[in-house]
Amino acid sequence: MWGGRFADGPSAIMREINASIPFDKALWRQDIAGSKAHVAMLAQQGIVSAEDATAISSGLDKVADEYASDGVPEDWDLEDIHMTTESRLAEIVGPVAGRLHTARSRNDQVATDFRLWVRETIDQTDAGLLALQQALVTRAGEHADSIMPGFTHLQTAQPVTLGHHLMAYYEMIRRDRSRFADTRGRMNESPLGSAALAGTGFPIDREMTSEALGFDRPTANSLDAVSDRDFAVDYLMAAAQCSLHLSRLAEEMIIWASQPYGFVRMPDALSTGSSIMPQKKNPDAAELVRGHSGRIIGCVTALMVTMKGLPLAYSKDMQDDKPPVFEAASLLALSIAAMTGMVADTTFNTDRMRQAAELGYATATDLADWLVRESNIPFREAHHITGAAVKLAESKGVPLDQLSLDELQTIDARVDERVFAALSVDASVASRASYGGTAPEQVKARIAEARAALGMD
Ligand code: ARG
Repeated sequence: MWGGRFADGPSAIMREINASIPFDKALWRQDIAGSKAHVAMLAQQGIVSAEDATAISSGLDKVADEYASDGVPEDWDLEDIHMTTESRLAEIVGPVAGRLHTARSRNDQVATDFRLWVRETIDQTDAGLLALQQALVTRAGEHADSIMPGFTHLQTAQPVTLGHHLMAYYEMIRRDRSRFADTRGRMNESPLGSAALAGTGFPIDREMTSEALGFDRPTANSLDAVSDRDFAVDYLMAAAQCSLHLSRLAEEMIIWASQPYGFVRMPDALSTGSSIMPQKKNPDAAELVRGHSGRIIGCVTALMVTMKGLPLAYSKDMQDDKPPVFEAASLLALSIAAMTGMVADTTFNTDRMRQAAELGYATATDLADWLVRESNIPFREAHHITGAAVKLAESKGVPLDQLSLDELQTIDARVDERVFAALSVDASVASRASYGGTAPEQVKARIAEARAALGMD
């Protein structure tokens, strides 16, 4: 394709290091779409004849049909998807194929293809995240009143509802979707027509190709357009943040599924057995979601470091932009699907969760608050009295609300029988009715809002 100036061909090593076709063949649909938009514009502007444009365009359709049925051939001599397609086009339609690359460079071509690919991936990711949110909201609705221990430092802190806990992840995913939407909005400009770096002398119509490819407008600076990979970094940062959320959810499911916790039974379909220990059911899918998050974070690092020292405009380093994006996208899609299945089909052992909240003395703060409120005791002193009550209950192996009034009064005479209304886990949860709190009425209100936002009713 560029042989005119060269006496010798490339060495075997040059061919191998240069070839991106093994991975950028994933861009073939976008490459064909970009070329069809380009050639239609060249015809409209009278840069190529209508007849040649028709021949090129139907030739591109034939190439696309071949790729769809037989895959994209990998010939390292042809370097990348752009030259592979152009070369096959020439075999099909003859020398007229050479007119397609008028007023275009692989630099604006690859920038266009890659943006189209990332944009589609964002749309698919959003659909996956919507399904995950729907699963979370559905399960939260089933468990808006189910009591579980809420943790800080992974120590039982105060009772919360399982619905409240699941809705925390709904919020995280809501922010992830908004980050992807921001990325999509910002990136949706067409680099096509920026040519190699400086624009072109041909009378092209950039608005036309921009519109044909679903972009909002053409990019405004040709140097920036061919060297900008912000959209890929933005996408990867959003993907990494999203994977952190999935990893935290996976981690909780792993802990909850362990025998000492026994809070959940994971779906068989997302678990594995052990080859040696017959009793085991391992949370491998969740563990891999947790692991994949590390790899996705590695992908952001890879691309940022690739870009950080590059002068304007295009440098070949930028060919290395694609593998981390492709890798992160497939890891994230799998992780979203796995966690959606996990949320939808996990069995929650709500008796066990409630018992853990009761025996973990999750209502100790409620006792202290009651002493402050009803007996006007300073909080620090109330904290001390409550500590003694927890110690006694612990020594007897009972929840706080199963201590007798006599027992409580030996610790502090100012306690009376009204305290029992504050000591149950249900009373504790119901009392936390501040906006966004764990009281079932609050949780149900947030679920109703979420269902409306997701179009679930
Ligand atoms: N395969 C190249 C890439 O992915 C296409 C652009 C090549 N441009 C060039 N000036 N050699 O970056």
